Amino acid sequence: MTQPPRLAGRDLRRTFGTGQAEVHALVGVDIEVLGGQLTAVTGPSGSGKTTLLNLLGGLDRPTSGEVVLDGAEVLSAMTESEVLATRRSRIGYVFQTFGLIPVLSAAENVEVPLRLANVDPAERTERVATILERVGLAQHARQRPHELSGGQQQRVGVARALVAEPDILIADEPTGQLDSDTAATIMDLIVELTHERGLASVISTHDPLLIARADRTVHLIDGAVEVLGSAG
Ligand SMILES: Nc1ncnc2c1ncn2[C@@H]1O[C@H](COP(=O)(O)OP(=O)(O)OP(=O)(O)O)[C@@H](O)[C@H]1O
Ligand SMILES: [Mg+2]
Repeated sequence: MTQPPRLAGRDLRRTFGTGQAEVHALVGVDIEVLGGQLTAVTGPSGSGKTTLLNLLGGLDRPTSGEVVLDGAEVLSAMTESEVLATRRSRIGYVFQTFGLIPVLSAAENVEVPLRLANVDPAERTERVATILERVGLAQHARQRPHELSGGQQQRVGVARALVAEPDILIADEPTGQLDSDTAATIMDLIVELTHERGLASVISTHDPLLIARADRTVHLIDGAVEVLGSAG
């Protein structure tokens, strides 16, 4: 028996506004992501990438269609508190603008999801140290975001997303604020962690060099998936 996809979107539609102001951001998107697989979502500005990632991560709900985990759990049908619990335990987010809390050190930022999950202090310290080491920031644990480079800040963002050991990783243009060399190192880190930890990862990006590193690509045009590379 083949295993169901860790994360799937089924005929996802999302409409914003009503009447004259109605915007059809997604018009029927299907996507499947397996554990250990990195999918890149690409497409022009306004094509629906952020909308799709927000649905897949439980930050927003579809107008119709479903987000399904492990072929069974329908994220898009859960209550708010169930969505929150699922997000905390299973879904890690990386944001384009890093989203770090300025007054907290790198280590304290990474610790936030563990505090929310009521992990005890000794274990928190241990897990924060381990993930900071993994992303190459062991020497920078006590620095605040403004004392770190953009690439280092995004490493903190990746560490925070993964410290609670989710099995799904969502990253909306995680390298959008970074120069191309730094972007490549962050992308390498995300690729490595996806494979190492067996994550089902979805990132959105405009960068062709990053797209080349993904296992699969989903190209959106006007809220629909355009089939790439099909012969004929
Ligand atoms: N909250 C909202 N209210 C109204 N319209 C929205 C909302 N969010 C997105 N849209 C619209 O939905 C469409 C898709 O937007 P989305 O942000 O998903 O695009 P994107 O592919 O992420 O673009 P970019 O590359 O610029 O980030 C756009 O037309 C946008 O204006
Ligand atoms: Mg976007």
